[in-house]
Amino acid sequence: MSTSPNPDIVTVPSEEHLGALDDERYATLIGRLSHQSVVKHYDAFADVAWDAPEMRIDPDDPRWILSNDDMLGRTAWYQAQPASVRSRIGLHMVVTFMQIGVEFESYLQRGLLEFAQRLRAGSPEFRYAYHEVIEEGQHSLMFSEFVRRAGLPVRGLQWWQRIGARQVLRFARTFPELFFVFVLGGEDPIDHVQRRALTSGREVHPLIRRIMQIHVTEEARHLCFARHYLRRQVPQLSALRRFALSRRAPVILAIMSQMMMRPSSTIVRTYGIPAAVVREAYTRNPEHRARTQEAVAKVRALLAELGLYEGGAVRVWRMLGLTAPPGVTA
Ligand SMILES: [Fe+2]
Ligand SMILES: [Fe+2]
Repeated sequence: MSTSPNPDIVTVPSEEHLGALDDERYATLIGRLSHQSVVKHYDAFADVAWDAPEMRIDPDDPRWILSNDDMLGRTAWYQAQPASVRSRIGLHMVVTFMQIGVEFESYLQRGLLEFAQRLRAGSPEFRYAYHEVIEEGQHSLMFSEFVRRAGLPVRGLQWWQRIGARQVLRFARTFPELFFVFVLGGEDPIDHVQRRALTSGREVHPLIRRIMQIHVTEEARHLCFARHYLRRQVPQLSALRRFALSRRAPVILAIMSQMMMRPSSTIVRTYGIPAAVVREAYTRNPEHRARTQEAVAKVRALLAELGLYEGGAVRVWRMLGLTAPPGVTA
């Protein structure tokens, strides 16, 4: 790493600009993001003290136990389980999210390479995209090392999610605006969840804290780029493409936010979580719905700013439970 570790959550100083930037300011912003990638980047192995005794992953560690703030953690079923089962479920959920992260980032990196290939030589976005690919590669190394050390059986994306992700990958070349909505769909909800965990005041395992600090710091740049890219490109799209983007965005967000906000089917099966408990914690839980809406709120606000959250599009958002009905605050 090129600078001393900063334990605080860092944001890039550019989100204050609303609306599309002019050519010069846009190029300056991309240059600044690229520069940040040089002076503030992390290595998955050099910057995480994997072998330090306090970093050891023990499935019986009570710090893995889901708190009352967690939708599953607060159910009577979960609280009735022995401590060793409760901690294993908590760890298993972390491991699954990391594995999904590895797979998602693999699509992301391939998409970014496709995106970079169609840019003109010397474009500032080309250099930036390569920095992002490298950072995602380090994140994947970090996540997969955690998965390896945890030693729990894990499956990432399901077959239909892989098919969907492969489709989106194609868009990196043919419809990059849609690809960057996918990027935000994967990055924004997890960023929200990680920031919430880092600021909750609850004791977090030091290994997770370190991984989240690194991830949140670098993701701030990725989110910033995706938002500014969309602000610049979407106004230039044809009506047909804007329509397609406005209808597909909520579908992408609905799928991706749930992948990161509820236990996988493998976990449900492994620990025999009853269907009624899953319904109570997630499917029929207005609080889970509100939290999902909160997690996608930033992307929703961006799409609204771009005029892609209107009329029929709002109905799709509502149908998917991503936005509260009129008169109800999300
Ligand atoms: Fe990442
Ligand atoms: Fe990222």
